[in-house]
Amino acid sequence: MEIMTNPAFLTAQLITAFKKIVGDSFVLVDEESLYNYSHDETEDLHYLPEVVIKPRTAAEISEILKICNRERIPVTPRGAGTGLSGGALPHLGGVLLSTERMNEILQIDERNLQVITEPGVITEILQNAVKEKNLFYPPDPSSRGSCFIGGNIAENSGGPKAVKYGVVKDYVLNLEIVLPTGEIIWTGANVLKNATGYNLTQLVVGSEGTLGIVTRIVLRLIPLPKHDLLMLVPFNAAENACAAVSAIFRAGYTPSAMEFMERDALEWVSKFLDTSSVPIAPDVQAHLLIETDGNNIEVLMQEMEGISAIVQDFECGEILFAEDAQQKAELWKMRRRVGEAVKSHSIYKEEDTVVPRAELPVLLKGVKDIGRKYGFHSVCYGHAGDGNLHVNIIKGSLTDEAWNGSLKEGIKEIFALVKKLGGTLSGEHGIGLVQKEYMSIIFDETQMRLMKEIKKIFDPNNILNAGKIFD
Ligand code: LAC
Ligand code: ZN
Repeated sequence: MEIMTNPAFLTAQLITAFKKIVGDSFVLVDEESLYNYSHDETEDLHYLPEVVIKPRTAAEISEILKICNRERIPVTPRGAGTGLSGGALPHLGGVLLSTERMNEILQIDERNLQVITEPGVITEILQNAVKEKNLFYPPDPSSRGSCFIGGNIAENSGGPKAVKYGVVKDYVLNLEIVLPTGEIIWTGANVLKNATGYNLTQLVVGSEGTLGIVTRIVLRLIPLPKHDLLMLVPFNAAENACAAVSAIFRAGYTPSAMEFMERDALEWVSKFLDTSSVPIAPDVQAHLLIETDGNNIEVLMQEMEGISAIVQDFECGEILFAEDAQQKAELWKMRRRVGEAVKSHSIYKEEDTVVPRAELPVLLKGVKDIGRKYGFHSVCYGHAGDGNLHVNIIKGSLTDEAWNGSLKEGIKEIFALVKKLGGTLSGEHGIGLVQKEYMSIIFDETQMRLMKEIKKIFDPNNILNAGKIFD
């Protein structure tokens, strides 16, 4: 593994100034800390920051950013570092600004079904806190046990439930952000409808920490559904599994999850977790994990029956119905940890393709054809109900030359296909550092110019997460 370093931006005086703002113990320059913050979950990439700063308040962040803006020091904001597109990689060195100490849920407003939180709260902790009040915050990335809600906002994360309940953007009502100039603003209002001027809130959602640092978040909540049912459906042909997906929605069902896993995905995660709890028959090539939820268990059972009848038309094998909470948890654990399993298996590149749902079979076939042409193996899985297919390209025995060279042409072909099918580069992982070279496949010069001009208005000196999304 290669660890990248950068020219120095900081003087002893600046370090002292940062210590004055946040306290000595929250300004770290020791080797171990710098290494710990040099990577996120993206491939095997490492870039050393020059200093790690852990502020507690928006006011402290404002003071830090004023200095960095004046001195033109690159600042990389970071949540929990679970990102897959390199958004939190301090690739220019400088300041790594971690929001980990901003970890308080400030208010659960049961009257209005809203929650106000700081960005460094772990998503699952927030979900569990509102659950205690019978409320539901649905967006649930696989990393929900470790990722931060602030990072989810930066990436506009999704997860399995998005297919019924929408992604992070559908829950964010209002944000407090610190601009790169140090100014602190709220982007909107704590309301469910808002037709008042440009929608700054939604501009910031998914902006990958390039426009401002989110310091307070107002989310809308919904009542917690009382029941859910889960089934795992095997298919002998992966394209049949993909084709079944849109048929289910066309028939009028909206499952609360509709996940696709290729054979390798399930096999590798079984090995990784050292479990044989889901037997995989020899001819099975793919699975759909399908969940329904709601308040009326009879209705859910009818829906499951209806869906079971549809998948039969696509030559599915024997369906496994989860019998109890434990089996459901086991199946979800397996699905959620596919990414980790793949990572433990080999160096890989994670593509986050998304197409209109009914195009999924064409996308899957195209990815495999392109893989054969360029000599790479891929493990595909993801949120099939959203047309969001994670394509994990495995380094395996590819040479470094091919991995860093010709493979790019293959990835470009995948994205060209995605575009032809009416899709785009990323459904939920963002562009960050590692996907920006493909942006020109999707956007023309005018579109890129508009994005760059917006960046300039927020960040005239280009200090905040510079070189992410675009150069
Ligand atoms: C998942 C992550 C990788 O779906 O997005 O597991
Ligand atoms: Zn995903």
